[in-house]
Formats: sequence, structure tokens, C-alpha cells
Amino acid sequence: MHFLVTGGAGFIGSHLCERLLRDGHNVTVLDDLSTGAYANVGHLEGNPSFRMVIDTVLNRERVEELVKPADAVFHLASAVGVKLVIEQPVKAIKTIMGGTEIVLDAAARFRKRFLVTSTSEVYGKGSKVPFSENDDTVQGATAIRRWAYAGAKAMDEFLALAHWHETRLPVICPRLFNTVGPRQTGRYGMVIPRFVNQALSGEPITVYGDGTQSRCFCHVHDVVDALVKLTECRDAFGRVVNIGNPEEITINALAERIKSLTGSASPIRHIPYDVAYEEGFEDMVRRVPDLTLAAKLIGFAPRLRLDDILNDVVGDRRNARTFNA
Ligand SMILES: NC(=O)c1ccc[n+]([C@@H]2O[C@H](COP(=O)([O-])OP(=O)(O)OC[C@H]3O[C@@H](n4cnc5c(N)ncnc54)[C@H](O)[C@@H]3O)[C@@H](O)[C@H]2O)c1
Repeated sequence: MHFLVTGGAGFIGSHLCERLLRDGHNVTVLDDLSTGAYANVGHLEGNPSFRMVIDTVLNRERVEELVKPADAVFHLASAVGVKLVIEQPVKAIKTIMGGTEIVLDAAARFRKRFLVTSTSEVYGKGSKVPFSENDDTVQGATAIRRWAYAGAKAMDEFLALAHWHETRLPVICPRLFNTVGPRQTGRYGMVIPRFVNQALSGEPITVYGDGTQSRCFCHVHDVVDALVKLTECRDAFGRVVNIGNPEEITINALAERIKSLTGSASPIRHIPYDVAYEEGFEDMVRRVPDLTLAAKLIGFAPRLRLDDILNDVVGDRRNARTFNA
């Protein structure tokens, strides 16, 4: 098959491209390299089954030209991470909602299978444990910019599901919980690579808030496997599906674990949310996925544990430091 992967030069997208090529498919990437990097896919360029186009998903003509010959579209291009959305809210909202609208329009016109990566952020301020797909989403005030990411991604889901409802376009909306692994950078606030970078360079490991909030982290290889299987699963069409790992850890414990794993002398410092992000910043205390639906549809159960993830990220960041030295 021939897949178009928007955002394919990003962290998750580049692992997805490798997997699709390994499975014998043709892959075209459309990426503007805004948060992704050529280095993530440069090693694939010699492969005759791989093609890279550097452009934005906001270029409607380019998107149509690339969607038409593809069999299916993985739409991963997006502004990612709360920090980026707070710093560049206009660009972020336009990229998320505008980009999805354009790619989805083309998929609808040419009747292509369409997967868009949504996020557990959509659950917003909900406090249920664990979160299941049909739980209410609890949105924060529009004056607090961080909620723009959740709001825009929720609109992506609404639009994709509307296409399924009206014309049975085969759409799938995996809601990814925190995804981690090699190639993820700490630049946009992602906590594990940020802590690992700080630990390796001997800088203070900076925990935002009091650190009692907890998160669940899933290895990118488990996530990519789920994305591929979901596009092959007819019962997943027209659905939102949680993908993540239910193993939970507080951010304080995570900082300690990374400090000990790297043998770092870095102190652990707490920074108030107002200073780390913006005044009035709100965070959720826990965010745990209910994976019942993913298990039923595709037999999903994450294979890799938090220690596997941390070892992989530490190895990756150590290599990057040696390479850049
Ligand atoms: N990493 C996570 O924990 C996580 C969690 C939930 C959802 N997601 C979703 O997964 C997807 C991939 O995220 P990621 O973690 O790999 O982030 P990433 O930033 O590495 O990947 C996003 C890619 O999209 C590209 N991009 C951004 N704007 C673009 C545009 N206008 N045109 C073309 N390309 C553009 C970037 O250059 C980048 O390569 C995103 O849709 C994100 O919302 C990620």
C-alpha cells in the first residue's frame, strides 16, 4: 500500500514511517520541519519506497496532489505540546484545525482511509480514573491558552467523526496519552526528555508544580503498532480509541528515577506553574487511559514498561550529546 504520513519527520511520525517501510509499503511524508527534523528521516531517503516533501499541510493544492495517489493517510502534523501552544497560540490553532480540515477535505474527496492523532488532553479537567472514550470532556476557560490544544484537537475529532457520520468516510481518531521514546526532544516541554537532558548535563531537574501530579507513559513502538493496526481494523472506523500505557508514576518519582538511572548529581527543583507556563495555568492531577476498547478492537496491550522507555531515552539522549559534542 501507499501511505501519506503528514508530520512524518516528527518524533512519532518518523517511527511510523520506519514501521510502514519495514512492512513493505510505500511512504510519502509531508512535513514543514517546524518541530520535526530532517535528521529523523534522512536515513530513509535512499529507500526507493520513501519520498519526502517539505511543505505545510496548510497548502491545499500540495495536500490534494499527495492524498490522491495514496491509499490511506496518517495525519500527525500538528502543533504539539502545551508549551508551544501557549507560546504561539494563533499558529498552533491554525495548524491543528486548519491543517486537519484541509487534509480531511482531500481524504473525503478521494475517499481515502484517514487516521488523525488526537490527544488525552481532550479529557481536559476531567478527574475520572481511568478515562474512557465516551466520558465527558471538561474544558477549561478560553482565557487560559493551554486549553486551546485540547479544544482544537477535540474539533479535529468532531470533524473526522462528522465525515464518518455523513458519508461513511473511514476515519479513526486514536487519542494518544503521553508517548515517549528515542527522537523526542525536550524543547517543547515534554517531561521525560527534558528531565533526561537536565540530568545528563548536571543542571537542576525542574519539576513543574508540586510534583504530586502523575502521568502514564507509553513507548512509541507500542503506539506505532496500535496506529498501524487501527487503520486495518474496520470496527475502528468512525471511533475514538484511547492508546497509552496504564502504568502510572508521579512526576516527583519520575525525577528521582531518572536521576538515579543516569547517576546524576543534579538537584531536583520545583517551579510554580505560573513561572513555568503562564499565570493561572491549570494542570490535571492524574491522566490514566482505559484501554478496554483498544484491547477489544486490536488486542492492544503495551509491551514496553516505563523502565524500557527510560533506558531507551537515556541511550538516545547520550548518543545525541556525543554526536553534538
Ligand atoms: N508525543 C505525545 O505524547 C503525543 C500525545 C498525544 C498526541 N500526540 C499527537 O501525535 C502527533 C505527533 O506528535 P509528535 O509527538 O510526534 O510531535 P512532533 O512535533 O515531533 O511531530 C509533529 C510533526 O508535524 C510537523 N508539522 C507541524 N506543523 C506542520 C504543518 N503546518 N505542515 C506540515 N507539517 C507540520 C512538525 O514539523 C513535526 O514533524 C501530533 O498530532 C500530536 O498532537 C502526541
